[in-house]
Amino acid sequence: MNDPSRIKRRYRQFADTECKGYSDLYYGLALAVSDDDEVVGFIAEMPEIQPNLFFASIQLLTGPDGMPKTGSELRAFVHRRDREIGEVMRSRRTQTNEVGRCAVLLPALPPGPLALLEVGASAGLCLLLDRFHYELGSASIGETSSPVHLRCASAGPVPVPAALPRVVWRRGLDIDPIDARNDDAVRWLLACVYPDHRERRRRLEAAIGLARAQPPVVDAGDLVDDLPAVLEQVPDDAQLVVFHSAVLTYVKPDRRQAFAAVLAGASRKRNIVWLSNEPPGVVPEVAALAPAQGGLRYLLARTQFTNGQRRDELLAHAHVHGADVAWL
Ligand SMILES: C[S@@+](CC[C@H](N)C(=O)[O-])C[C@H]1O[C@@H](n2cnc3c(N)ncnc32)[C@H](O)[C@@H]1O
Repeated sequence: MNDPSRIKRRYRQFADTECKGYSDLYYGLALAVSDDDEVVGFIAEMPEIQPNLFFASIQLLTGPDGMPKTGSELRAFVHRRDREIGEVMRSRRTQTNEVGRCAVLLPALPPGPLALLEVGASAGLCLLLDRFHYELGSASIGETSSPVHLRCASAGPVPVPAALPRVVWRRGLDIDPIDARNDDAVRWLLACVYPDHRERRRRLEAAIGLARAQPPVVDAGDLVDDLPAVLEQVPDDAQLVVFHSAVLTYVKPDRRQAFAAVLAGASRKRNIVWLSNEPPGVVPEVAALAPAQGGLRYLLARTQFTNGQRRDELLAHAHVHGADVAWL
């Protein structure tokens, strides 16, 4: 059994750092959990205690509109449906595919034609970044007829591209890829979006629609062990960009180093641009360039690998789901 006081601290921290000012619903619910012995007792019996997993498991059962809105509604729901919530929590892992992050990545891309390789690609939705419409600050990029509209507030000298890049090859690599044509997997992806984030849900549904019509290829594999085999397949006549968001943070520091070492090795044959969009501290060479920031902000960095040598640039601080970007 997990330590109840640790769970209370975790839910309070989740409320303060990930929900405050971003999701009133989850802020209120997470604070309520942090003060509710009965709900905490239920979570303590689970193998994983993550707030996102607990709330997504409930949302899978209720849908976004039926999600409990108050602490007492939540306690009553847990009381009534404890067995079903437990089954979901034991069988699923938190899974997201956040297309909003493409608005942060877009200005960091080099000129095309591009070969895009995303590690930790999930359902590969971010690989479709050239098929979305963007409002980046006051700039409009891409076809307004795209079903996926991304809105990202901006600060600082964002190098907004005049047009979307030409992508001639794209591939994902994920330890546990999601097939956007699998209804059960899609239901879980949607359940992991906070219920009060209606625009995020709409754009995710729209991106899933694009992926269902033309599924991006996402290979099953590890971002270190299976990367060399994928790199072998990249066409020569395009600029290779390897990118990821919210991925390296889930692997151990020695694996992050091993990942960078694979890219450095491969750059003896071709130049590689590596874009990382991760929490502070995940890429040490980037963390060293970054002034401290409050709150939960990602660091967007671009590393050019040439002939085994790297050159790192810290480009921006970004909202975790791409709601805003502050260029440096
Ligand atoms: C939080 S999700 C982010 C998904 C996507 N990058 C996005 O921004 O929406 C993290 C993804 O990394 C994948 N992942 C975690 N460890 C991995 C590894 N060692 N190799 C490849 N993929 C991994 C997970 O399966 C998951 O799809």
